[in-house]
Formats: sequence, structure tokens, C-alpha cells
Amino acid sequence: MHYELVVRNATVIDGTRAPRYGADLAIQDGRIAAIGGLDTDRADTEIDASGRIVAPGFIDAHTHDDRLMLSAPDMAPKVSQGVTTVVAGNCGISLAPAPNGMRAPVPVPLDLLDAEGGWFRFRTFGAYVEALRAAPPATNCALLVGHSTLRVQTMDKLDRPATRAEIARMRNLADAALAAGAIGVSTGLWYEPASAAPTEEVIEVCRPLAMRDGIYCTHMRDEADRVIDSLEETFRIGRELGVPVVISHHKVAGTPNHGRSAETLPLIEARMRGQAIGLDCYPYCASSTILSADRVAGASKVLVTWSKPHPECAGMELDAIASRLGVAVEQAIETLLPAGAIYFAMDEADVRRILAFAPTMIGSDGLPHDAAPHPRLWGTFARVLGHYARGLNLFSLETAVHKMTGLTAKTFGLADRGVLKQGYAADLAIFDPATVDETATFARPIAPAKGIDTVIVNGAIVWRDGKSTGARPGRVLRRG
Ligand code: ZN
Ligand code: CU
Repeated sequence: MHYELVVRNATVIDGTRAPRYGADLAIQDGRIAAIGGLDTDRADTEIDASGRIVAPGFIDAHTHDDRLMLSAPDMAPKVSQGVTTVVAGNCGISLAPAPNGMRAPVPVPLDLLDAEGGWFRFRTFGAYVEALRAAPPATNCALLVGHSTLRVQTMDKLDRPATRAEIARMRNLADAALAAGAIGVSTGLWYEPASAAPTEEVIEVCRPLAMRDGIYCTHMRDEADRVIDSLEETFRIGRELGVPVVISHHKVAGTPNHGRSAETLPLIEARMRGQAIGLDCYPYCASSTILSADRVAGASKVLVTWSKPHPECAGMELDAIASRLGVAVEQAIETLLPAGAIYFAMDEADVRRILAFAPTMIGSDGLPHDAAPHPRLWGTFARVLGHYARGLNLFSLETAVHKMTGLTAKTFGLADRGVLKQGYAADLAIFDPATVDETATFARPIAPAKGIDTVIVNGAIVWRDGKSTGARPGRVLRRG
């Protein structure tokens, strides 16, 4: 046989958690055409993967790449670590739909996607999907429509529950988004645009999920003292709608809550027996989002990631900024806003327990437009493979790969992805198991991972020899 591409002498980790094995892989028309001994077969392009792992391309379970896919379609922060699919539109914020447009200043935290507002240009979700199809990025994507985006587009004031009429409008927008290609709805109930929304509002807005086989993903109302209540709220929403739920970036934040993953994980496990529940986690004990006084209060250290009035403060410690300005921390926060921050407020033991929990997927939650972003943007997947699997032996490499491929595809319902199998989509990450790791740090956060040789999306090489190839074969994926 003659193929477009053959990867030879690979050590295959197939994404199912099965033990690795040696094989060659052939790729034709964007699919895996054969796996096995292909000595007598030839190809237009041959890749020697001796000493390398060939795994399914990684699926980033939690991203805010809605705009990055259009504004920097090489998707370098992602493909450089082996990511071939991103789930976008998380935490209640999606770039579309914006039937009423968006004026600056864009309300927090929607400004994480675009502070100026110009990218909120898609009047319908379908128009956004069309834009991605017309100018595809390097990675595939699965899209969520954000409840906070719907609220901002529908309500004059956000500090109250939606009225019946507003709920009906949001439900129609959600339904149209699902019809146009979204795989689910996300909420960010902790954030101001949605914190006044009662559980019942969320359920009513999300009703179309049941009819359209959608999924519910949530940045919960509380990830600190009231984390158990928030988990129960999430499970209730899933049960009342009859749809799968995903708990985003699961954590227990704030010193008094350290150790409480020993409570949350058994609860999640128990509820999983009665309903479909997934969760994702990023491999760091610091979080990152907008700068806010109440988050600062629970953190041992705070780094500023961007500031509109004070861009020169990006990358600096909040305490240092306050003393430089000669003001109290509270006043420094006021001066910096709107701004983003990194908060050191989690316990490493919780992070490890959550990462090692069998159903936990890997999601970066990277913030691609921050001036000095959390290193999770460029480092998450390589860090799990290098630091947590190889370095600390928290789990096997097979399990690490499963948490970023097969498990994720199954949880989000992405058929024929996440597993290396004949007939499946040819999304591949080829890496050196001895050296793979992040190089991004909190001090120098923008840096490609090491040990990632070649990354292939739908049969096309998107990353090779430490740089993007310029190929942009990404597709908008659906469930089922
Ligand atoms: Zn979030
Ligand atoms: Cu997020």
C-alpha cells in the first residue's frame, strides 16, 4: 500500500489506558488507515518515531480559546504541547452569540476573551461557527455557549434573576447555538454577570440541552467554603435536565478548605452512580482569573497578569505593586482594575488527589490574551506527562494520556477521537517520554513545552521541530 503518511517504529499509547505496544501507523485522508507492521508499505511522508511515544492528540477539556482560534489560528500555546482539540466557551463566557454587539468596556469576565469588544462581532452562534469553518485554526474545537454571554446580551441589569421573558430569550439563543454546532452550555455562577442567577434560571435556560443531546459545564458558584453546596447544585441541574454535567477546574480554594478534596471526590464518585458527571483539573496549585479583592483575601501570594490602566505591572507581585505605589493592597487593586491575576490559594495535596482521581480529565484553563499569563496556558499537558507522571509517578504514562485523550473524548461525546484506532481521526501527538515537560514558569510563562516532536491534526502536521508548520486543518466537532 501507499499512504500519505506513515509513522514508523512507534511506541503506541492508544488513549484507552491499555499498556503501550510497538507498531507503525498509516494515515490517509485524515484518518488512521492502519496500525501494525507496515514494513512493505510506502508513504509520501515518513516519520521515524523510534524511542518516541505516539499518542492520540490531546484534548484540552477546558479553554478560553474562542477568540484565539480566529486571532492567532496557529494555536501555538496548544499545539506546542500536543493539543489537537480544544473545548472552548467555558466558565459562562463565549464569544458568540452577540446579537446586540458589545461596547467597551466589556463586562468582567467577558473581557478575558477581548477587552476591546471588537471580536464580539458574531450576531448569531452560527455566524461564529461559519467564521471558524471559513478560516480554520490548527486545532479542532468543540464549542460551548456561555450563560453569562447570554445574560449580557439579554438583560439590562445583571444583579437580579432573569425575568420569564428574558429566560425565554436566552433559551432561544441557547437552542439556536446548539442547532448551529455548540455541544453544550457553560455557566460561570461565581462571576458577577451570573451570580444573581438562581438555579431555576439556569435549568430553564438550559432546557434545550435535553432535546439536542447537549452537555452542561460549570464554573461553580463556589469553589471554597460552600463547595459541597455548589456540587449539589450542579448535580441537581444535571438531574433535572437529564443531561451530563462537567465540573470545571475542580479545586478547593482558600486555606481553611485545604484537604477538602477528601470530601468532594467521594461525593462526586457517589453521585456518578446515579448520573453522568465529568470533571477537569489543571496541574497547578495557583488559579488565575480577573483581579478581585475577595480572591486576593484567600491567597498567600498574588501575581498580576494584566492591567488595563497599568500594563507595566503585568508579571509583578501585587504586594510589590502596592508598596511601589505607596498604598494599601485594597487601593492598589482599585488602581489596577480592570486587571487579571494569579492566586496561590490551593494545596498541592488536593491538586494531586484531584488529578489522580480516575474520572478527572486534564484541562488547561489557559488565558491566551493575558500579558503575563498563568504558565498553564503553555505548560499544562507537558507538565502532567513530565512532572506528575514521570517525575512524581502520580500515575502511569498510559493513565496520564488517557486523562487527556480517550477519557475526554468519551466525556464530551467526541466520537472517533481520543483513541488510536483504525478508522479514527488522525489526531496524533509524538513525544519523547524521557524529556517531555513544560518550560513555562510563573516568571517566564510564554514558552513552548519540550519533548514534543510532531503534532498531527486530521492527518496534517501542525507542529514540527519546535515550530508551527502553518497548516490549519481544524474542524468544529459535534457530539455523537
Ligand atoms: Zn472558570
Ligand atoms: Cu475557565
